[in-house]
Amino acid sequence: MVFKKKEKKVPAGFNSVNEFFDYLYKKEDLIWMGQNTNHLQKDKHIENALIEAAKKRDYCKYPPPEGFPELKELILKDLELDPELQDIQITASATEALYLAISSVLHHTYNTIASDPGYLIINNFANRFGNHVKEVPIYNEDCGYKLTPKLIKEYIDMDTKLIILIDPLNPLGRAYTEEEIKEIAEIAKENDIYLLHDITYKDFSKNHTLVAKYAPKHTITIYSFSKIFGMAGLRIGAVIASPDLIRKMRSSVINDLGTNSLAQKAGIAGLKSKNEWINEVKETCFKNQEIIKEAVDETPGTFLPVYPSDANMMVIDVSKTGLSPTAICDYLLKEKNIFVREGNYTSKLFANKYIRVSYSIPTEQILVFKKEFKNAILTLQEENNIKMKD
Ligand SMILES: Cc1ncc(COP(=O)(O)O)c(C=O)c1O
Repeated sequence: MVFKKKEKKVPAGFNSVNEFFDYLYKKEDLIWMGQNTNHLQKDKHIENALIEAAKKRDYCKYPPPEGFPELKELILKDLELDPELQDIQITASATEALYLAISSVLHHTYNTIASDPGYLIINNFANRFGNHVKEVPIYNEDCGYKLTPKLIKEYIDMDTKLIILIDPLNPLGRAYTEEEIKEIAEIAKENDIYLLHDITYKDFSKNHTLVAKYAPKHTITIYSFSKIFGMAGLRIGAVIASPDLIRKMRSSVINDLGTNSLAQKAGIAGLKSKNEWINEVKETCFKNQEIIKEAVDETPGTFLPVYPSDANMMVIDVSKTGLSPTAICDYLLKEKNIFVREGNYTSKLFANKYIRVSYSIPTEQILVFKKEFKNAILTLQEENNIKMKD
């Protein structure tokens, strides 16, 4: 097995990537728009469940290996999936779920279809366990910035075994319509291919359709507690698929002694209270998007390829400013205390075109971004003697 993981770029001024993230993590006043985590979660249910579970000291025991049955049931209920057709394994994050799923369905002769831009960690796993990944360029209006059924049909061949659907998509925030989902489900069934439906950002979208409803035997659904629940640091998620496929995955689970019991208790509390807080989080995100759009509209040379976004992040195209995404990100972090992400984290082909901004943070901070974004572009252009054409 050849592991083709791309080495991470060490940001300027740091000795390692770890040192960079440790610096960001500890910087309490940082405007956190560089990772799609949710800083709007103010509900007390999750926090209280963690405190209560810690006080009981139940953590001296191992939890059950597949996850607490209550949590498994609540996730399936949340997704309105039939427990007769779909089984679930709790994992330490969506990342672990992705690894488990991909290692179980691919072998060295199979190829995978994914999009560029996309979430490259998934492609790394597919490269590791399969033959290669076809990274389909989707950064254009013709396909609506998503991996359409038409593109999938164009790229599929006899050895394709897996299609990666990130929905809504990190980084562009595009989601699929019900019609597209039905069409993709048919492609999977006709060609006996697995669909990996990563729904990490599902709850930020206006409408969302699960492909598992239309192709239950061919779908692997990846679930995360990191985003809408605001629990990224607790590292908890799940993989959902047909009982046969989950049985196969269970034979290669690494963490046979279960997943962090405190994180699971927090997940249970989050699912039970979700209806009480989800609308407020979503509304703030929509409002924040509008403010970012205003900032982009008043900044020459920049535009939003996808607006509105169905996720808690979006892409700002900066290719006509004459500046590199790296220069913009470095400036905003060092000079303005604003963390945003350069394109190379989510694209190989279009990395030089955009930065990604997340906005599930307080609106006051988004207003700071609005004030500083245009200034940053103009200042950097002046420093570098860049004159834009009209
Ligand atoms: C599409 C996608 N899947 C999975 C993850 C990771 O989720 P988790 O924190 O549950 O590992 C991310 C994180 O940004 C993501 O963007």
